[in-house]
Amino acid sequence: MKTVKLGLIGAGGISQAHCRTMASIEGAEIIAASDLVQANLDRATENWGISKTFNDYNEMLEMDELDAVLVCTPTGVHGAPTVAALKAGKHVLCEKPMEAKLGPATEMVRAAHENGKILMVALKLRYSPQVIKAKEIVDAGTLGDIYYVETVADRRRGNPGGSFIRKATAGLGAAADIGIYALDTALYLMGHPKPVAVSGIASNELSLNNTWNPALKETEVEDFAVGWVLFDNGARMVFKTCWCMNMDSLGGTIFLGKQAGLRLGVMEVRGPQEGVTVYGDEEGEIKDETFTEFESVDVFQREDQAFIDAVREGKPSPIDPDGVLLTNVIIQGVIDSSEAGGREVEVSVPTF
Ligand SMILES: NC(=O)c1ccc[n+]([C@@H]2O[C@H](COP(=O)([O-])OP(=O)(O)OC[C@H]3O[C@@H](n4cnc5c(N)ncnc54)[C@H](O)[C@@H]3O)[C@@H](O)[C@H]2O)c1
Repeated sequence: MKTVKLGLIGAGGISQAHCRTMASIEGAEIIAASDLVQANLDRATENWGISKTFNDYNEMLEMDELDAVLVCTPTGVHGAPTVAALKAGKHVLCEKPMEAKLGPATEMVRAAHENGKILMVALKLRYSPQVIKAKEIVDAGTLGDIYYVETVADRRRGNPGGSFIRKATAGLGAAADIGIYALDTALYLMGHPKPVAVSGIASNELSLNNTWNPALKETEVEDFAVGWVLFDNGARMVFKTCWCMNMDSLGGTIFLGKQAGLRLGVMEVRGPQEGVTVYGDEEGEIKDETFTEFESVDVFQREDQAFIDAVREGKPSPIDPDGVLLTNVIIQGVIDSSEAGGREVEVSVPTF
């Protein structure tokens, strides 16, 4: 079995999880790393035995023996290294979300198509047993046509601070950090209908005026975002996310279909209850079914294994980047609408 040789761009916090996971996957090896911060490269060498290190990722990408690259830079810095890696002929596993802004995200997908390489965004919830179960239920036709969705990722006091609150690094806040999980999960279950119009609000009132952490008063990105989305098939979605709020919950994630409804409670997309519940009826009588027994899985392990298998076997990306790009179209729509005072904006999905 050929070993898949990997390079790391961005050796910060989340890269540690990928280093640990890749070390456990047979036939995968991280052989090089790049970061602007020397201490992070020294840690990569010390903890994970990565001896080839670079301050400039372009130099690392000149290594012929690299098959693929893990992009673990802050969200607003995903585009440039991903496009450079794809153009250098490397497959890419990029941390979530695809990018902060729609423009660079579009260039990432275009580069994947033009260079015939895998671009996988690390949306770990695709490997959650709850989401897999919900997808099976939807694909079996149990819900019928889905006409309305509310999808939520919320925290009461969870502004992460650090590079996550800076425009120059993260580019966006809660929508890109945790909202992305709610949005991607909803679009995945809905079968990726195309968004055509969005209105919304994005603000950071609570972080700027918070009483629990002075450092968060420097928040430059949104800590709260809500979007109202119209799709080309007529379906509508409410997308709600926040890092902090004076409330216990924004209500959870629900799907209304013409034959049944579904409630989803899963890590990062929690609601009033955990698991998957189908709300239906049988011969005129209400009949609900709840699934709460799920095996505990390491979603990082499954995600990274799927990437390595796809690289080795020449398969398409396990998470289609064209579908993920719809999350950028919607989030960009929310930001643009908010800047236009909440007025609806028309959106369109890039084609390649
Ligand atoms: N999947 C998950 O569960 C999960 C969890 C946390 C973060 N993330 C995502 O991972 C990404 C990184 O988050 P983090 O917490 O590791 O951030 P971090 O700030 O800890 O690490 C980012 C690293 O990138 C480096 N970097 C910045 N610009 C660079 C450049 N031009 N070239 C090389 N290196 C550069 C920084 O020096 C830093 O070491 C974010 O997009 C975030 O959304 C995912």
